[in-house]
Amino acid sequence: MSKLPNNRQKGDPETTGHSWDGIEEFNNPMPRWWLWTFYVCIFWALLYSIAYPAWPLISRATPGILGASTRADVAAEIQRFSDANAPIRAKVEAAELTEISADPELLSYANNAGSAVFRTWCAQCHGSGAAGVQASGYPNLLDDDWLWGGDIENIYLTINHGIRNTTDDDARLSEMPRFGADELLEKAQIDEVVQHVLAISGQEHDAVLAEAGAVVFEENCAACHGEAGEGNRDLGAPTLNDAIWLYGGDVASLTYTVVNSRAGVMPNWNTRLSEADVRAVAVYVHGLGGGE
Ligand code: HEC
Ligand code: HEC
Repeated sequence: MSKLPNNRQKGDPETTGHSWDGIEEFNNPMPRWWLWTFYVCIFWALLYSIAYPAWPLISRATPGILGASTRADVAAEIQRFSDANAPIRAKVEAAELTEISADPELLSYANNAGSAVFRTWCAQCHGSGAAGVQASGYPNLLDDDWLWGGDIENIYLTINHGIRNTTDDDARLSEMPRFGADELLEKAQIDEVVQHVLAISGQEHDAVLAEAGAVVFEENCAACHGEAGEGNRDLGAPTLNDAIWLYGGDVASLTYTVVNSRAGVMPNWNTRLSEADVRAVAVYVHGLGGGE
């Protein structure tokens, strides 16, 4: 094959020697500015990887000689805030529970801190708005229907020690018997007492069964739930003569509750939260609307 004609002129740079259908490629050097930028970048990357955490090792990365750590930065930031809040937290811890909501400065701190604690630790069970979850066993904390008492001392006690947990000796405790599962009542008696509960809570019911159920209730339930089903806060026994239900007020739910009982559990918070945080969230819950 004869040499292909091309348009090369005198003084043109060398070609790379490749030829594609007669098209050749000049062997121009990289532009100076580009090359220098490239070297500077390599140099920079080397310095950077010496100065800052960079190369992955088995369980961590090389730390870098400057000791930079975003984790430490966050910890320092948190420390800075908690130092700044230390005096007011000390005041919240020292005050009587009832004094906190009377003092605007303490109340404002308690509400802010309490709402943050609530969103972090309580919302998954009680709902982000504290309205509980209907018929789930997680009570609404906004209303004035309290299982264990709605004054600040009782709310604090409930949160601090929790309910029916095995981790705090001072936890709220009481157990409704398993009337069906442990054969304390006949099936017929359970049906009767369920009709009685429907009756006292103002729902549609079978009057004959409910009348027989009143006797069963008197003998087996009134000790905890009260003669009229008004509940008992010392025992955490819910009010049965209203329309608010922890587990549901229909026949199926009521029957399940009487047969198996429920025994809802709440963890104690005194080991997970600081005293100031427990107090803050107690004040926050107390202020939500149902506080007494
Ligand atoms: C693991 C789920 C769970 C978490 C998390 C939880 N609770 Fe509870 N809480 C419950 C249950 C269940 C009950 C009801 C127990 C019962 O039947 O007596 C309850 C009851 C309460 C009561 C008593 C209500 C009443 O009517 O007397 C208060 C107050 C309360 N919780 C506050 C809190 C606060 C504040 C937090 C966060 C620090 C929290 N709870 C976190 C499950 C939880
Ligand atoms: C030893 C005390 C005790 C006795 C006796 C008892 N209960 Fe209870 N009952 C409770 C407690 C405490 C709860 C709350 C359980 C929980 O939160 O897990 C409860 C819950 C209930 C509930 C659920 C209420 C709701 O809002 O969902 C019903 C219904 C109920 N009891 C009916 C009865 C009936 C009917 C009897 C008699 C056959 C009875 N109880 C006997 C303590 C008792």
